[in-house]
Amino acid sequence: MQTKGAIGVFDSGYGGLTVLKEMVQLLPQYNFIYLGDNARSPYGTRSFETVYQYTLQCVTKLFAMGCPLVILACNTASAKALRTIQQHDLPALNNTNRVLGVIRPTAEVISSYTATNHIGIMATVGTVVSNSYPMEIQKQNANIQVHQQGCPMLVPLIENMEYQNEAANYFVKKYVDALLAKHSSIDTVLLACTHYPILMEQIKNYLPNSITVLTQGNIVANSLANYLQRHTELDNRLLKNSIRQFYTTDAVADFESHATLFFGEAIKANHLSLV
Ligand code: DGL
Repeated sequence: MQTKGAIGVFDSGYGGLTVLKEMVQLLPQYNFIYLGDNARSPYGTRSFETVYQYTLQCVTKLFAMGCPLVILACNTASAKALRTIQQHDLPALNNTNRVLGVIRPTAEVISSYTATNHIGIMATVGTVVSNSYPMEIQKQNANIQVHQQGCPMLVPLIENMEYQNEAANYFVKKYVDALLAKHSSIDTVLLACTHYPILMEQIKNYLPNSITVLTQGNIVANSLANYLQRHTELDNRLLKNSIRQFYTTDAVADFESHATLFFGEAIKANHLSLV
């Protein structure tokens, strides 16, 4: 008989906590292990090969910690590493375990939010260059046009807790203006980086009220709940004692003091070495 384990949730840093928060709210009975690779964050400006190698290391670690299911709560890792891990690595690592990302679930529902069929995407440069969102969204609805804006300064500002200062406002305005300049009919903007909900207020400040701003936490949590209902063989392998553990590859004290902002409640963290 296979041993049971927690759902692993992975991000390059703090951003995935905005997704975990919604998962815990919707699925409070499940055990979760969060892993933030803060020591190597940000991933958004790194090459495909590097993001793939780092993500694979983290997934392998979460499998070794007993997780039968790992969610890449990071768009950059979902864009650059998920497919290769699913197709190439999973059969060798553990063919009964599963790794899921955040792009497909978002692409599946996003067309229901737009009336004009013009969607704006704010994301890391890595996610934008991968073209994953236009491809996935158009697979669902060929009428939708996707306009993308890379926002390379936002994750570094957030990871360094500089997201409330004038520099952050400057870059938010610059990226929002650049996105809106791409098409006058954009009526929906997706924050396609799990770090960006922290900047929600600033982003909304620079957008007209008529534009809907979407974050991914509740979308991904709903998709996970639906997936678990459909995959009872996997669901039966998940522990349900409401235990949450948090690991960071960097300083525990920093992680604990900053994580509350993203997760919404105080947490205790542990250090994890990947080498
Ligand atoms: N939270 C990650 C995402 O959703 C940030 C990536 C990064 O580390 O730059 O893309």
